[in-house]
Amino acid sequence: MANTSQKRILVTGGSGLVGQGIRTVAEKDPRADEEFIFLSSKDADLTDRNATKVAFEKYKPTHVIHLAAKVGGLYGNMRANLQFFRINMAINENVLSVSKELGVKKVVSCLSTCIFPDKTTYPIDEKMIHNGPPHTSNYGYSYAKRMIDVMNTGYNQQYGTNFTAVVPTNVFGPFDNFNLEEGHVLPGLIHKVYKCKENNTPLTVWGTGRARRQFIYSLDLGRLFLWVLREYEETEPIILSVGEEEEISIKEAAELVVKGFDFKGELIYDTTRSDGQYKKTASNEKLRKYLPEFKFTPIDQAIRETCQWFSSNYETARV
Ligand SMILES: NC(=O)c1ccc[n+]([C@@H]2O[C@H](COP(=O)([O-])OP(=O)(O)OC[C@H]3O[C@@H](n4cnc5c(N)ncnc54)[C@H](OP(=O)(O)O)[C@@H]3O)[C@@H](O)[C@H]2O)c1
Repeated sequence: MANTSQKRILVTGGSGLVGQGIRTVAEKDPRADEEFIFLSSKDADLTDRNATKVAFEKYKPTHVIHLAAKVGGLYGNMRANLQFFRINMAINENVLSVSKELGVKKVVSCLSTCIFPDKTTYPIDEKMIHNGPPHTSNYGYSYAKRMIDVMNTGYNQQYGTNFTAVVPTNVFGPFDNFNLEEGHVLPGLIHKVYKCKENNTPLTVWGTGRARRQFIYSLDLGRLFLWVLREYEETEPIILSVGEEEEISIKEAAELVVKGFDFKGELIYDTTRSDGQYKKTASNEKLRKYLPEFKFTPIDQAIRETCQWFSSNYETARV
């Protein structure tokens, strides 16, 4: 008889930053009752429902970690809000509806703290997602992500499914998108400092450096994702973040990257560039109630490791 406790875990977006973090953690500590399948866009274009269904029928997952998304930094989002909205809406609709149709036992999707209301009180928590419009710079991505929470509630209410979501803060680590125009702030800085060191040129940081962010290392996020998949049973999302006191300025982040590469050149702030949302401090109180002992990798160590990974993998990294 088939072992019903055996999990086949399909990870959509498995080739990206977060997916590779989960893969590293899962491979380090394999469990006999878990088998992982990591999908990329080359396996199936999840904006296409038929292709989504074919992939799900092929792998027959019992569990899904849904990461696949059109993801970008501030400048990429500002240029293409409509595309971010439409592509992400299509992917999420297809993944959740096919999961329901094929009887997947649990789906954990991925939201982001940058989808929360622009005008809010801090720290933000899980109950505030729908309390007001998101920042104008990334409204397309934000509304598409918020609809995952709406669909999770609806599917669970109407069909008794077990769909939930996590809310990470800014993620960084190996396999990130280090493209200077499209990527997020930290991988952008890592790429820039690498180049400045190589060419002996000053480092120009976009914006004033005053904006503040909570960064989470992809390997820490991978450990937390697997805990959510195995243990977390609420529909309401859970914020996966370091504590509020660990929020740092872009200036501090730039200085840690400079340290990570031992870069000795000058630092210039280009204040004609937008800072985006000044801060989006998130509370990890709910996470701490579940996992009071969880230890995050110190940020200087995590940034150093990512700088080293980027140097060693420059030829194949997404630049
Ligand atoms: N990065 C962050 O700071 C951050 C913060 C909070 C939440 N998140 C969320 O975390 C999740 C993963 O993000 P990430 O940073 O790992 O992004 P990423 O590195 O850009 O990876 C995106 C993944 O999605 C796949 N994908 C994109 N379009 C697809 C399509 N049409 N069909 C199938 N697969 C597609 C990509 O496949 P290919 O490799 O083949 O292109 C890749 O595996 C996303 O849901 C994102 O919203 C990210």
